[in-house]
Amino acid sequence: MGSANMEKKWLFPLVISSCVCLFLLATSLNLGLVSSPHKLFSSMLQSRVATNQTGAAFAEAKVSQAPPPPAVPAIPRFAYLISGSKGDMEKLWRTLKALYHPLNHYVLHLDLEAPVAERLELASRVQNETMFRNVGNVFMIKKANMVTYRGPTMVANTLHACAILLRRSKDWDWFINLSASDYPLVTQDDLLHTFSGLNRELNFIEHTSQLGWKEEKRAMPLILDPGLYSANKQDVFFVTPRRTLPTSFKLFTGSAWMVLSRWFVEYCVWGWDNLPRTLLMYYTNFVSSPEGYFHTVICNVPEFAKTAVNHDLHYISWDIPPKQHPHTLNINDTSKMIGSGAAFARKFKHNDPALDKIDKELLHRRKDGFTPGGWCAGKRKCTRVGNPNKIKPGQGAERLRALVDRLTLTAKFGQNQCK
Ligand SMILES: *[C@@H]1O[C@H](CO)[C@@H](O)[C@H](O)[C@H]1NC(C)=O
Ligand SMILES: *[C@@H]1O[C@H](CO)[C@@H](O)[C@H](O)[C@H]1NC(C)=O
Ligand SMILES: *[C@@H]1O[C@H](CO)[C@@H](O)[C@H](O)[C@H]1NC(C)=O
Ligand SMILES: *[C@@H]1O[C@H](CO)[C@@H](O)[C@H](O)[C@H]1NC(C)=O
Repeated sequence: MGSANMEKKWLFPLVISSCVCLFLLATSLNLGLVSSPHKLFSSMLQSRVATNQTGAAFAEAKVSQAPPPPAVPAIPRFAYLISGSKGDMEKLWRTLKALYHPLNHYVLHLDLEAPVAERLELASRVQNETMFRNVGNVFMIKKANMVTYRGPTMVANTLHACAILLRRSKDWDWFINLSASDYPLVTQDDLLHTFSGLNRELNFIEHTSQLGWKEEKRAMPLILDPGLYSANKQDVFFVTPRRTLPTSFKLFTGSAWMVLSRWFVEYCVWGWDNLPRTLLMYYTNFVSSPEGYFHTVICNVPEFAKTAVNHDLHYISWDIPPKQHPHTLNINDTSKMIGSGAAFARKFKHNDPALDKIDKELLHRRKDGFTPGGWCAGKRKCTRVGNPNKIKPGQGAERLRALVDRLTLTAKFGQNQCK
């Protein structure tokens, strides 16, 4: 009797842990590069088949709780936030037209520092553009937010855009955060084509837990962002005492530019786990929270940590030693930019000759026009939507594919990517 009890005592944990192992194994084998979200569900089913009664009951409960596998359309869609401040309206407009594709969604934001006239001008341009009116996929945030560079209001603004995009449309797959001084190096057809071969759970987010000097200069000081309560723009200010490093989660940092899966964006915005909310509060007093919030959330949740590809898909050139702002790109940087295979580059001055070169050689875009693609029947003068699902990838798709393959081959998906 006693020994039978003992047996049960160790048998149960053994069965449970072997089920978990089998489940993890099946998931990791299935979370490969070219797979779709249903693979995850089918791997759950497989693990049920592979285990016995106790495990079956456990896995079955999981599967019946999970939503039915969504029908994934072959071509993904992107949801963009393009944001700017005072004096950025023309830059933002040019970037928007270069990035436009009828399948995507666009949210535009000029912060409160931009004069009212500038914001009205952007709103009227959006309204007046026949293409945007007909397709209805460009939305401007009219009630502008106060945004402080380096402050938490920047993260709040990004989350605001995510929430608008989630509410406006159910059918996008990735969120991309850009500023008015960013510019694409590939056409949207190239990007849509490359991403149609990817697992839609992947996130492109450059990250590291090696904080280095940032421990001292970013994680320990405490700041206040007047943008949270003041009607006038002011910079963040430092308060004392400082704080120690956190012990209930691990800090990560990285680039403030990222490509996030819808799955992860929903996790951050809806907050059915408390972690995204707790971390948001923690980051309220953090220097440069846009370089840490999403990184720390994604890396502290095992399910998401295995989807984090360590790159921001941007070409950004830093001076050595790095200054606060990256080197402004010009015509002499174009070959390095193209050679990187990145999808976007930053930052550019308004109407820099490098942008004209990109338009001409990479995007085949006419001045003030849209970047042509399969959606306007391959016509260079793109004025009407033909079949939006017709994708005509060019050489940009090959360059981007090579970069993405390199990134995803070195990563072992199904394992925690965060170090
Ligand atoms: C299945 O579970 C039972 C206990 O419920 C155990 O005795 C048996 O060894 C398990 N079989 C396998 C193949 O793991
Ligand atoms: C609106 O668009 C038309 C052509 O589509 C143009 O002639 C006109 O100047 C535009 N108005 C504004 C306010 O941009
Ligand atoms: C999002 O994009 C803006 C560009 O305007 C950038 O400054 C910001 O730091 C980005 N990241 C986050 C997490 O808000
Ligand atoms: C590009 O390089 C050339 C030759 O080295 C130089 O003369 C020119 O000033 C550079 N242009 C810019 C914008 O830096």
